[in-house]
Amino acid sequence: MAEQVSQLSFAHSSQFHTASAEKLAARLLALAPKSMRPGGRVYFCSGGSEANETAIKLARQYFIERGQPKRFRVVSRRQSYHGSTLGAMAMSGNVARREPYQPLLPEWGHIDPCFCLHCPLGLHFPECNLACGEELEALLRDDRENSIAAFIFEPVVGATLGAAVPPDGYVQRIAEICRSQDALLIADEVMTGMGRTGKPFAVDHWNVVPDMITFGKGAASGYAPLGGVIVGPRVVEAFERGSGAFQHGFTYQNHPVSMAAGNAVLDVLEKQELFARVPTASRELFAALEPLKQHRHIGDVRGLGLLAGIEFVKDKDTGAPFPREENIAGKIFEAAMEQGVLTYPTQGCVDGVSGDHILLAPPFIITAEECHITARAIAAAMEKVFSAT
Ligand SMILES: Cc1ncc(COP(=O)(O)O)c(C=O)c1O
Repeated sequence: MAEQVSQLSFAHSSQFHTASAEKLAARLLALAPKSMRPGGRVYFCSGGSEANETAIKLARQYFIERGQPKRFRVVSRRQSYHGSTLGAMAMSGNVARREPYQPLLPEWGHIDPCFCLHCPLGLHFPECNLACGEELEALLRDDRENSIAAFIFEPVVGATLGAAVPPDGYVQRIAEICRSQDALLIADEVMTGMGRTGKPFAVDHWNVVPDMITFGKGAASGYAPLGGVIVGPRVVEAFERGSGAFQHGFTYQNHPVSMAAGNAVLDVLEKQELFARVPTASRELFAALEPLKQHRHIGDVRGLGLLAGIEFVKDKDTGAPFPREENIAGKIFEAAMEQGVLTYPTQGCVDGVSGDHILLAPPFIITAEECHITARAIAAAMEKVFSAT
């Protein structure tokens, strides 16, 4: 990053190319699912919310380029989070985060989340035949005005549901529905991308190729603001055959220092073979967390790769959550922090209001011993919180 600043600290990308941006784009495309690579492009910005805003506008302009100007809605799922800017928040289904801004948020359409533990339809997998996914089919089929442009989803739902992994077949079915109804599929991999779940992108677990992948967070690992959209060839071609220009832009997109940070992070990930470490570290983490499942107030330990969620319940037999006012997730966060372990607390995983969980997303270099330290800290935090309730 220092070397980049000494050569070129900033250049506005409306007039200049930046070598470090082109290098990073090529490297990210090489990590994307194979069929996104030839003819694919990367659009850089400064974070996950900007990435999802960019994806909304790409989806919109894609249909204008194709002569279908009525199509603009990006539908999504309840119990999801796509960012804090207004477009990203409109797509998000996180009840608490939307609530104060409701009047500012257009309603483009939400379907139920895929969360078997607290199935919003009261069904059981596999007898349900993925009914939650079929809601997308119905939404697209009944779109009489033909105004839906895309569907966006978190392949593994991060903050809102605490690392909820869909059952096999769901992501494939969603992709099939989008393809058959000619809607774009956007995978929000801001949290799950860049190796976090044990594959470069979480969609790789199901061999699904979306039209766009949004990324952020781990892309520059916190060294600089960086996010973006990997855009597949189908979308790129429509722009190339059409107007040839995407009507969008941020002053600090492709910022050279962020590009240098992204390249340096990829250098470390590649040299130290850290992508390959995630499955091993994941096994160690979940093995260390396993004994916690016996605790009377733990309802579930779930996740994929190094994205883990722990859900707390008042009654283990019925799965009943604690009342929201008790703020169990916040209390566990405080108590684990006293033990030197930082967690990500959220409420609302059961129905948008109640349900307490914490998220764990340790660095890829976490050791087996550090996994045990983490589990011990959470056990101690529970001891402190629940002995007081
Ligand atoms: C899945 C997902 N999408 C989008 C965002 C927004 O990213 P940012 O906070 O970088 O704007 C987040 C942030 O937590 C996220 O988890």
